[in-house]
Amino acid sequence: MTKALSNPHLPFGDQRSAPWYGKSILTVKQFSQDDLKYIFGVAHEMREMVERVGTFDLLKGKILVNLFYEPSTRTSASFTAAMERLGGSVIPINEVKYSSVAKGESLPDTIRSLECYSDVIVLRHPEVGASALAAQYARKPIINAGDGIGEHPTQALLDLFTIIEEKGNVDGLTITMLGDLKNGRTVHSLSRLLSLYDVKLNFVSPEILRLPGEIISELEDKGIPVQEYALLDKAISESDVLYVTRVQKERFEDPQDYENVKGTYIINSQSLASAREDLILMHPLPRVGEISMELDDDPRAAYFRQMEYGMYVRMALLAMVLGKA
Ligand code: CP
Repeated sequence: MTKALSNPHLPFGDQRSAPWYGKSILTVKQFSQDDLKYIFGVAHEMREMVERVGTFDLLKGKILVNLFYEPSTRTSASFTAAMERLGGSVIPINEVKYSSVAKGESLPDTIRSLECYSDVIVLRHPEVGASALAAQYARKPIINAGDGIGEHPTQALLDLFTIIEEKGNVDGLTITMLGDLKNGRTVHSLSRLLSLYDVKLNFVSPEILRLPGEIISELEDKGIPVQEYALLDKAISESDVLYVTRVQKERFEDPQDYENVKGTYIINSQSLASAREDLILMHPLPRVGEISMELDDDPRAAYFRQMEYGMYVRMALLAMVLGKA
């Protein structure tokens, strides 16, 4: 029994000596395959509990701050839902223009202030490295909910959980990612996470939106077979997973460049004509036309199921960093 568990003043199940207690989640590079197995095991338990009782008091008395400098629907709402399912509370700061950020307050000062009122801070910020910077100043765990075009580690965890739940395993799969691979932080995180497994990765994008060379090199250094294409036709028939992303208008310096590439790919029934019957079609969402709504009722369309898996993964992460998993 750990020292924390033997302390009569701590509630049953408290595991403050657990490896993730008090840790920030900043990049997928933090995770080993064993960590992933553990997180997904906890996520399974969370799913069972939600299905059985809906809401329970594992994090009763704990407070999360949702600090979002960029728009969000899913990440923000699913962290709120995760915390409330676990009996905790949320301070939402989704419109920083109404906070003291608008008066010029620095990120370190905002973090130092908000951690006085909370136990964990979920941060989305337009600058790469913002969460790492915040974590340098914070005494409480910071969870990176997207730092510019850098990473979105909790999205990658839920994406991987979705693949495992839907396909049964990861090893041996061919995963094709399509769209804005340059700016898509979910692709950056997911491809790095997948490199822990025996997978083949295809990347389909317009020339100006190719996956950054540094990530391709990281994957190749780990022995992952990588192919880049301009057209999906070349990759679709061998794919087990097709992961589609939005072209990120807000990241373009020249609006004309966006206009030139915005409609390059529209996935519809015809695009999937040569796809496997058991393909799964994923998207981190929001979509802005790159997957036709005609596919929404196709059993291969996993993008709405993917969001639900996300809540269980985020429940697991919150329980872990707050010493309750
Ligand atoms: N997938 C994702 O990050 O969605 P939101 O931008 O709505 O949070």
